[in-house]
Parts: sequence; C-alpha cells; structure tokens
Amino acid sequence: MDDSRETTPAEASASNKVIGVRRLKEAMAKPASTRIFTVANQKGGVGKTTSTVNIAAALAMGGLRTLVIDLDPQGNASTALGVEHRTSAGVYEVLMGSAPIATVIQKVAGFPELDCIPSNTSLANAEINLVSMVARELQLKEAIDEISVNYDYIFIDCPPSLGLLTINAFAASKELLIPIQTEYYALEGLSQLLETYTLVKKRLNPALTLSTIILTMFDSRTRLSNDVAANVRSHFPTELIDIPIPRAVRISEAPSYNQTVMTYDPLSPGAIAYMQIAREIAERGRVKETEPIDEELNSPFNSNVVNINYKGGIA
Ligand SMILES: Nc1ncnc2c1ncn2[C@@H]1O[C@H](COP(=O)(O)OP(=O)(O)O)[C@@H](O)[C@H]1O
Ligand SMILES: [Mg+2]
Repeated sequence: MDDSRETTPAEASASNKVIGVRRLKEAMAKPASTRIFTVANQKGGVGKTTSTVNIAAALAMGGLRTLVIDLDPQGNASTALGVEHRTSAGVYEVLMGSAPIATVIQKVAGFPELDCIPSNTSLANAEINLVSMVARELQLKEAIDEISVNYDYIFIDCPPSLGLLTINAFAASKELLIPIQTEYYALEGLSQLLETYTLVKKRLNPALTLSTIILTMFDSRTRLSNDVAANVRSHFPTELIDIPIPRAVRISEAPSYNQTVMTYDPLSPGAIAYMQIAREIAERGRVKETEPIDEELNSPFNSNVVNINYKGGIA
C-alpha cells in the first residue's frame, strides 16, 4: 500500500481541474435520518480535515446528500473543497446570528450532492465573541436544525482545541468521529477528549455518541503504527473502523489543487481507503428492515454520470 510516487508537473496541471461530476456506479445506503458527525481531536495534524473532506466527498459520490461545515478558522476544509472562504460569509456569521445558515451554504464543484459552509478568518474571534452570548454552546445546533433535513450526512470539522467552537459542534451532533494518527503520542490527549465528550453528553447533548474511530497516516511497515492500531483495536473494538488510512503522498498533495484525493487521484490507495471507510459508515447507518422508510430518501439512484467504479466492500 505504498503510494509515495511523485507527481509530475504535467500530471499536476492535468488534475488541477475537476472534470465532470463524480458518482459511483453503486449507491451507498441511506440513513434513516440525518447523521451529524463532529470530527474532533484536540491534537493538530492528526487528519481531522483530511478525513472530513474525503469521507464527505466519498459519501456524496455514493449519492448521499452531504454537508461539510468548516469550523476551523484556518479554513483548510474549505480550501480542500475549493470553496471560496476569504471574502464570503460563513459559519462565523451564522454563529453570531448575522447570517441565516441557508445563505452561507456553497456547492462544491464536481459533486452534485456535496455542499460546504466555509469558515473565514473572522472565525478566529468567535471563541471570544461567543462567551458573552446567551445559549452560546447551542448557536450552531440551532442553526443546523434549520437545514439538517436536506442532508443524509453532515460533518463538522473542528479546530485543534476543546474550546467553545468544538463544544458547539458536540452540542449540534449526534455522533463523534475521532481520527487517531498512528504515530508517537497518538493516544496522548485522548482521555481529555473523552472527558469533554462525557461532560457534553451529561450536560448539553445526551444523544451524542462516540460512534466512529479511524486510524490515519498508517505505515504498515513500522512497528509503531501496528502497535497503535492494536491498542486502539483493543480499547474501541466496536467504534473502530478497521481500515487504516495509509500515509500517502497523494492525500497530502490534493489540497494544494483545491481537491479531495477522491478526485485528485481516485484510484490511489489513500482514496480507496477513504472510499471503503465511507462505505462502512454508510453500512453502519443503513436503515434496518424494521424501521420506517422515507420515500424520498429511497428514490432510485441516478447512475448516468458514472465515471469511476470502485470495487466496493471491506477487505
Ligand atoms: N494519510 C495521510 N498521508 C499523508 N499525509 C496526510 C495524511 N492525512 C493527512 N495528511 C497531511 O497531514 C497534515 C495534517 O492533516 P490534517 O487533516 O490537516 O490534520 P488536522 O485537521 O487534524 O489538523 C496535512 O498536511 C495533510 O495533508
Ligand atoms: Mg484541520
């Protein structure tokens, strides 16, 4: 699973454009109701943003209506999705109550089912400005409630801290997704994250569930990566989706072309791993036969725009 080949300039400029629309031949399972995930880990650089944008893109390619909310002032998710975020109103204005959420949603080019609410640099002031507000922990939740019915999946990409922005995300979500980097100190800080999760569950949002853990930047050749994976496997046997994302150059290159790896190099090992994780997430959310089925959610899948056919399934 080594994906360390370099990109030639010709390849790079060829892949600089998103061409056509991206959909898979085989649709992914629709959830019974909107699944809202917070992607959090207060460590920086563990793959929160990378996982958010690629899993969201993969679900959208599977025909699921998906929204990414970029809650990090750095705006990396907005960049990776090629969404304008320097001058546009975004999630900051929503948190401050100065823009209705529906007005700041942008379409992601090339993905008919994928939307993004960008962050902008004002978001850096949000933590301070929120402090004096009433129901400051619930600003995002109240906004998301207005639009969540329009989506199958919503992912909130958090900044690397456990401040008010992340608390807003926890309060607005039903599920928590934690990416764990298979490196030194991977589990450091995890107990603090879990304490915050428990506290939010008790005080703010009893419905929140730590449902999903993924392993990022996995290098199967190193003992360390394998040790971290084994450790997480033993502590979180049901939460872990045991499809490690390989450390892969193509994954890290994609954002500089304002792309996800799903379009930048869809057949690279990193893209395939994210696709498999997305399928597993969708499977876990599949409507059980005993649950009522929403007619609209179950409409036939339009596959006339297929240009990539992944071999689905979990290895
Ligand atoms: N599987 C991977 N292989 C190689 N590089 C990766 C991988 N996942 C993430 N990266 C790179 O690592 C850096 C940190 O990832 P990022 O998703 O921004 O982390 P976070 O959002 O947790 O801070 C980025 O430069 C990203 O491109
Ligand atoms: Mg990030």
